[in-house]
Amino acid sequence: MNDIQRMSAEQMYRDEIEALIKNEKNHIPNGWKMSPQSVLTYIIGGKAGNKVITPKYIGNKRVVEIAIATLVTDRALLLIGEPGTAKSWLSEHLSAAINGDSTKVIQGTAGTTEEQIRYSWNYAMLIAKGPSEDAIIKSPIYNAMETGTIARVEEISRCALEVQDSLISILSEKRISIPELSKELPAQKGFSIIATANTRDKGVNEMSSALKRRFNIIVLPSPQDLSTEIDIVNTRVEQLSKNLDINANLPSIDTIEKVCTIFREIRNGLTLDGKQKIKQTSGVLSTAEAISILANSMALAGSFGNGTITNFDLASSLQGAIVKDEEKDANLWIEYLENVMKRRGSEWLELYKECRNLNK
Ligand SMILES: Nc1ncnc2c1ncn2[C@@H]1O[C@H](COP(=O)(O)OP(=O)(O)O)[C@@H](O)[C@H]1O
Ligand SMILES: [Mg+2]
Repeated sequence: MNDIQRMSAEQMYRDEIEALIKNEKNHIPNGWKMSPQSVLTYIIGGKAGNKVITPKYIGNKRVVEIAIATLVTDRALLLIGEPGTAKSWLSEHLSAAINGDSTKVIQGTAGTTEEQIRYSWNYAMLIAKGPSEDAIIKSPIYNAMETGTIARVEEISRCALEVQDSLISILSEKRISIPELSKELPAQKGFSIIATANTRDKGVNEMSSALKRRFNIIVLPSPQDLSTEIDIVNTRVEQLSKNLDINANLPSIDTIEKVCTIFREIRNGLTLDGKQKIKQTSGVLSTAEAISILANSMALAGSFGNGTITNFDLASSLQGAIVKDEEKDANLWIEYLENVMKRRGSEWLELYKECRNLNK
């Protein structure tokens, strides 16, 4: 198990899920492994007996409650928001807690077909024996309907409209028809879908309103304030570094605060004190990206330094995250360095110099 590059949520947090199931005191909905209250504890953290449950999603508790309540009523759930606001992360953990299985996933792309949503055929068997139950290759959604569990559809708005719309009949009738076998597969109780969509990209507006009506839509916000974002980044970097073999110290809170400050200011186009406008770069400076550049800095420090993140490590990682589109972003970044960071005083001076060095 330890050789797996990325474990599923239910593998990674198996002991937490087991503890929650063992200490269950509330009613468990059909097809679920635990009660809605326990799912909430799993997501936002707490205790199950003596076992500490670590927080997975950090943010508005009400948002998580509404998401869970949606799934209790069999309604499908659509999580939307900017990139890196934990849409996929929350969707994975919800299905891990509710079913102990987060792996029934369809990744939406421009190339996703209707067969991938419904079912396809094993052609060798189809030709040899004709259409039969055995020759069906079930999609994750088919599987979820059959077993009364949750299927996930990632980045649904990237799929072609007609592919998206094949979900309409599944969600309204809760059955898939298989005309080749003159058969219908009715969904078992507990079946639902959690979909995610980015408000950037092609956008949620592209989705047909007929499909949107079939979902409860929840917007996952970017972290409200600096301290929440620092909290998220700090928690996640600590968890991540445990799984990666990085021989380095965790970043100091001061370092995390610097990264979050830079990201928030460029993201919002305004300094934190609200006094100075900033031009936004082309990349999305999300919380997820802040987490990844800190992990990246740790890897640099662990592999090529003394194990503690230096301003040089940080500057190199920031450069990669911020300067995506050469000319334009580089100029905006230099403007930020000169007009904002340089004027911030001694604590920022070393980082300023290292960043400036990379943009001569
Ligand atoms: N509010 C949050 N609470 C916990 N983790 C978060 C939060 N926001 C972002 N993250 C982290 O950001 C990372 C990427 O999130 P992801 O679900 O891939 O984003 P999205 O699907 O919205 O683009 C995850 O590692 C997640 O832990
Ligand atoms: Mg995602």
